[in-house]
Amino acid sequence: MQKLVIVLGLLAVLCAAHSFKEGGAVKQLTVENFTAETGIGSGKLTKNTFGMFYAPWCGHCKKLIPTYDEFAEKTADVNVVAVDCTSSRAICDQLDIKGYPTLLFFTTDNKQIKYNKSRTLESLQSFVSTDYKQETGVDITFQTVSGGSSAPSSSISAQIHKLIDSVGGPTIFGVGILVAFIVFAILFAFLCGGSNDEKKQTLSTDEDNAKKSKKRE
Ligand SMILES: *[C@@H]1O[C@H](CO)[C@@H](O)[C@H](O)[C@H]1NC(C)=O
Ligand SMILES: *[C@@H]1O[C@H](CO)[C@@H](O)[C@H](O)[C@H]1NC(C)=O
Repeated sequence: MQKLVIVLGLLAVLCAAHSFKEGGAVKQLTVENFTAETGIGSGKLTKNTFGMFYAPWCGHCKKLIPTYDEFAEKTADVNVVAVDCTSSRAICDQLDIKGYPTLLFFTTDNKQIKYNKSRTLESLQSFVSTDYKQETGVDITFQTVSGGSSAPSSSISAQIHKLIDSVGGPTIFGVGILVAFIVFAILFAFLCGGSNDEKKQTLSTDEDNAKKSKKRE
């Protein structure tokens, strides 16, 4: 029982995600308001936009969040947004987000540039003010998405990925299976431990039945 408590405690710690500052400068967007708030997908990008595409359970994302909050606070001329890919998958699928976090810069001349420099406040600031001009980027092809109407991914691996994402990532998925196994083992020991006689009886009845049905054949 003590072990179970420890495992459940561990799970709770893993689940406790760091999140963006309440009422902070980072705009947290979803399928409902991503295009409306940024102009990406409607061709009406009036402000350069820096986006963090993340999953709440990812360690590198949690580590970046405080820096990202500060970056948003100190960067008035750029729209600083964040999209939770586990709840707004339709956005991240379309942007071909393969790893978390992915950082993308969208400019008013309709280009999209992947940010792969260091994740420090200084690098982020200097990128959005001048450094991005040295990168070529690609044309924005994003099409607006509306809430809930995303086409479901069809491939099995996409489905598994989705399942793992929805329960909190590979680590928590693994711990979940472990916990389920331990709970099962405890229940099994509890329910089946004290009733050996009954079990034998059930077994012999099953055997008898098997013999009977053999005979019938
Ligand atoms: C966007 O919509 C979500 C709910 O779908 C809401 O929680 C969030 O605050 C909205 N963001 C902005 C900047 O309006
Ligand atoms: C960053 O991206 C650029 C352009 O996409 C690429 O040329 C460069 O090698 C990348 N740098 C790193 C460190 O991945």
